[in-house]
Amino acid sequence: MLKALFRVKPVAPAGHVDAGEPFEGSLDGEATLKRTLTAKHLVLLGVGAVIGAGIFVLTGQAAANHAGPAIMLSFVMAGFACALAGLCYAEFSALMPVSGSAYSYSYATLGEFVAWFIGWCLVLEYLFASATVAVGWSGYLISFLTTTLHLPFPTELAQAPINWDGHTFIATGSILNLPAIAIVAAISGLCYVGITQSAFVNAIVVAIKVTVIVLFIGIGATYIDPANWTPFIPANEGPGKFGFEGVTRAAAIVFFAYIGFDAVSTAAGEAKNPQRDMPVGILGSLAICTVIYIIVCAVLTGMTNYTLLGTAKPVATALEPYPNLAWLKTAVEIGAIAGLSSVILVMLMAQPRIFYSMAKDGLMPKFFGRVHPKYRTPYVGTIIVGVLAAALAGLMPLNVLGELVSMGTLLAFATVCAGVLILRYTRPEMPRPFKVPMAIVICPLGVVACLYLFWQPFVEHWKIFVGWTILGLVVYFTYGFWNSKLRQPT
Ligand code: ALA
Repeated sequence: MLKALFRVKPVAPAGHVDAGEPFEGSLDGEATLKRTLTAKHLVLLGVGAVIGAGIFVLTGQAAANHAGPAIMLSFVMAGFACALAGLCYAEFSALMPVSGSAYSYSYATLGEFVAWFIGWCLVLEYLFASATVAVGWSGYLISFLTTTLHLPFPTELAQAPINWDGHTFIATGSILNLPAIAIVAAISGLCYVGITQSAFVNAIVVAIKVTVIVLFIGIGATYIDPANWTPFIPANEGPGKFGFEGVTRAAAIVFFAYIGFDAVSTAAGEAKNPQRDMPVGILGSLAICTVIYIIVCAVLTGMTNYTLLGTAKPVATALEPYPNLAWLKTAVEIGAIAGLSSVILVMLMAQPRIFYSMAKDGLMPKFFGRVHPKYRTPYVGTIIVGVLAAALAGLMPLNVLGELVSMGTLLAFATVCAGVLILRYTRPEMPRPFKVPMAIVICPLGVVACLYLFWQPFVEHWKIFVGWTILGLVVYFTYGFWNSKLRQPT
C-alpha cells in the first residue's frame, strides 16, 4: 500500500514537437489538444493571468493596513519567492511539456500521493481564483455602472447571499452575485470553443489593461509628492500592522497578485515549441508583471497618502483627489474590468487542463480527459469547471475564497521547487532545455520562501484548508487510488 502511494510516473524526455503535431497522447481514439501557441501568446497568457485583483483590489488594503509605502518592498519580497518558483516551473515545463503543471511534475518526482495532493491544491488555485476574481470583477462593474455611468443595479443581484464575518456565515439579504455568474459563463463558453480564440481575446484584453496601467504610471508619476513616502515603513501598531512584520504580512497578501504565471505551464500541451518557449512565457510574464507592480505601487503611494488607499479600488481611489484626471479614473476602471476578465479566462483555461492530465493518469474520472473532436479543447472538464466556478462566484463572498487560493498555490510552488532538485538526482541524464542556475541553492530557497509565506499569516485559515485536504483524501482513496493507471493488477 505504502509503495503504491509513492509510485512515480516514469518520465521520458520530450521529443521536439512542431506546430500542429499533437505531442501529448489522448484517451484512446480521441482527439488531442492543438499545438498553436507561440512564445508571444505564452507571455501574454502570463500577463493576462497575473495582473488582476491583486493590484487593482488588494494593494490598497495591504498598504493602508499593513505596510504603508513599503508595500513596494512587500511586492519585491513576494516577487522574489515567485521568481525562485518561476525558474523551477521554467525547467519543468520545458522538460515535460504537458498540461498538468505542478501535478505532473510531482507525479514524476515525489510519487502519486503527493501528486494527487498538489493536483487538489491546484483546484484551490485555479478554480477558486477564477471565482474570487469574478467576484472582484463584479464589484468593479457595479461600481462603474452605478457611480460613473449613474445606472441603477439591483443590490439583491449584486452580491452573495452569505458573508463570512470572521466567525460565522451571516445572511446578506441578497439573492446571488449575477454579474459574477455571467462573466464566468461567458468566459467558459470561450474556453469551450478553442485555445486559439481564447488566446486571441486574451491578447486584446491584455493590451487594454497594460495600456491603462502605463497611462496611470506615466501621468501619475508627474503628481508624485515624495513626502507621501515618509515614513517609508510606518511604526509598528500591533500584530501585522506596519513595521517589518507588517511588510511581510502584506507580502503574503499581495502574493495573490503574482498568481497566474504558473498557469502558462498548463498550456505546455498546446505550445508550438514548448522546449524553447515555455521558459520565455513563464519568466517573461513574471518579469514584466514584477516591474509593473513595483512602479504602480511607487506611483500609488506617491500620489496619495497610503492612509487613504484602503478601498476596494485603490488605483481609482489614488486619482480621486485630482479632478482633472477624472478621465484617467474612468480609463482605470475600464482597464480593471478588462484586466480582471483575462485573469478569469486563463484560470478557467488552466483548471480543465489539470483535470485532463489527472484523468489521463486515471486519478480523475475519464470524462475529464475527453477532447472535443472539432474544437480540440477538454470540453467536458471546461463545462464542469465553469458550472462549479459560477456557483462559487455567485454564492460565496470574496474573503472566504481569496485566502485559500494563495495557500493552495504556495504549496504547489514549494513542491515544484523541491521536485526540480529531486529530478536532478533521480534522472540526471535527461536533457534539460532550460536549467535553474545554482539549483542546489535556488530550489531549497524557493521551498523555504514559499512555505514561509504559506505558514505565517494564514494560521487562521488552517481549518478550512485541512477540511479541503480531508475531502481530497476521501476522493483519492475512493476513486484515484483504485483507478490509477500505474496500479499493478493484483
Ligand atoms: N494574480 C491574479 C490577480 O491578481 C490572480 O487577480
